[in-house]
Amino acid sequence: MADVTSVTMDKIVSLAKRRGFVFQSSEIYGGQGGAWDYGPLGVELKNNIKRAWWRTNVLERADMVGLDAAILMHPRAWEASGHVGHFTDPMVDCRECKRRYRTDDPSLDGKLEVCPDCGARGSFTEPRQFNLMFKTFVGPVEEDAAQVYLRPETAQGIFVNFSNVVTAMRRKLPFGIAQVGKAFRNEITPGNFTFRSREFEQMEIEFFVKPGTDEEWHRRWIEDRLRWYADLGMDPARLKLRPHDQDELSHYSKGTTDVEYLFPMGWSELEGVANRTDFDLKQHSEFSGGKLTYFDEESGEHIVPYVIEPSAGADRATLAFLIDSYQEEEVPAGADKRELRTVLKLHPELAPVKAAVLPLSRNEKLLPTGQEVYTLLRAGLRDCLVQYDDAQSIGRRYRRQDEIGTPYCVTVDFETLEDRAVTVRDRDSMTQERVPIAELTAALREKLGR
Ligand code: GAP
Repeated sequence: MADVTSVTMDKIVSLAKRRGFVFQSSEIYGGQGGAWDYGPLGVELKNNIKRAWWRTNVLERADMVGLDAAILMHPRAWEASGHVGHFTDPMVDCRECKRRYRTDDPSLDGKLEVCPDCGARGSFTEPRQFNLMFKTFVGPVEEDAAQVYLRPETAQGIFVNFSNVVTAMRRKLPFGIAQVGKAFRNEITPGNFTFRSREFEQMEIEFFVKPGTDEEWHRRWIEDRLRWYADLGMDPARLKLRPHDQDELSHYSKGTTDVEYLFPMGWSELEGVANRTDFDLKQHSEFSGGKLTYFDEESGEHIVPYVIEPSAGADRATLAFLIDSYQEEEVPAGADKRELRTVLKLHPELAPVKAAVLPLSRNEKLLPTGQEVYTLLRAGLRDCLVQYDDAQSIGRRYRRQDEIGTPYCVTVDFETLEDRAVTVRDRDSMTQERVPIAELTAALREKLGR
C-alpha cells in the first residue's frame, strides 16, 4: 500500500468541515475571525486529548492536583502578573487599506516599506504596542472602575490559589497544580486555521519546587512533555525541542523550551515549558498583600517556591494530531484497480468514534442483529462513542469511518445470522477477522486498550 500523503492545511480544513470536526464560528453570518466551533466529532477528539492530558498529569501522578479557576479575575491580578504592562505585540497599520500587521509578521519580511495586501508604499504608521487582553465590564455600568479582563492564560488562576491549595490539600514541595480552560487573546493576526485563535483552550501545569532544584525539574518536564505527544502516536520525526534565545523570553521566564511540531506551515510551537522562577508568587504577594510562601520543615524557613510551567494548547494539540494522523493511501479496489483512501490513523485513545456497527445492507433480516450488536457495544464500551450506520454501500461506509479515524468497523452479514459471529475490520491494516458476538465486547476492549 503506497502512502501518498502530502498533507496540506487546505486538506485538513476541508476534512474538518466535511466530517464535523471544526466549523468556522458564526459561519452563517460570514464568520467571526479567530474563533472556531468544534463539531460533533471535533468535540470528541478534543475531549479525548484533554482527558489523556489529565490522566497522565493528574490522575497518574501523586504529586499533582487539579483546579478549575474562573475566567474573570480581579483586575489587579493582571497588573501583578505583568500582563497589563507587558502583554503586548508591536503593530503597524497600513493607512491606505487599514490592514493591521504585527511588525514581526512573516509577510512583511522584516521590511516595513510596502503593504503586502494593497501594495501601498510608505503607508505604515509608526509601530505601536498593542495589549492583547480583551476587556469587558462587570455590573451594569461600563466605567473604568468596573473593567475586567478575559484571562489571556489560565496560569494566574493557579498562582492566586497557591495558598488555598497548599492548606486544603496539605501539599509538600515539589507538587503541581493542573488546569484546563479557556483563554482569550486579541491576536492581531489570527490564522493557520485553529493554530492562532482569539479564543482557545490551554492545558497548563504550575509545578512548584524548591529553589535550586528548578533546573533539574525543568529538564524533566521538557522530556516528559515531549514524550506525551509521541506516546499518543505523534510522529517523533515531526516533533522537536527549541530552547528560546534570551531576547525572546517572556517577562517572567528564566528559560523556556518549546515543544514544536512540523505543521504544514513549518515548525511551530505546540507547547512551552518555562522556568517562571518565583516571579508570579512574589508579584501576587506584593500586589495583594497576602502571603504566598511555603513553610519548609527541613530548613524551618518560609520560602517562595520556584515554578516550572508546561503550558500546552488544546486546540494546537488537536490540530497537530489531525495533521499527523492524516494519510492518503493507494489501495487495491478490485480487478487491477486502485483507489485513494483517506484515513486518520489516530491513536485509539484519541479516535472520536471507537467502533462502528455496519450491517452489510439494509436488508430487513440483518437489521435486528445489527441493532443488537450496536446496543451490546454501547453498553460494553462505556465512555466510548460507538456509531451505527446502514446507509449507502459498505465500501463507502468504510471510507467514511476511515476518514474520521474509527479504529474498528464491525460488519453484520448473512453469515452472522447462521454463526452468531461478525467481521471486525482493522482501520490501519484493513484486515478482517471473524469474532463471535459473545466475545466481541471483550475483543474490542482489548484492542482499544480499555
Ligand atoms: N502560561 C504561559 C502561556 O500562556 P504561551 O506560550 O503564551 O504561554 C501557551 O501559551 C500555549 O497556549 C501555546 O504553546 C499554545 O499551544 C497555546 N496558545 C497560545 N496562544 C494561542 C492562540 N492564540 N491560539 C491557540 N493557541 C494558543
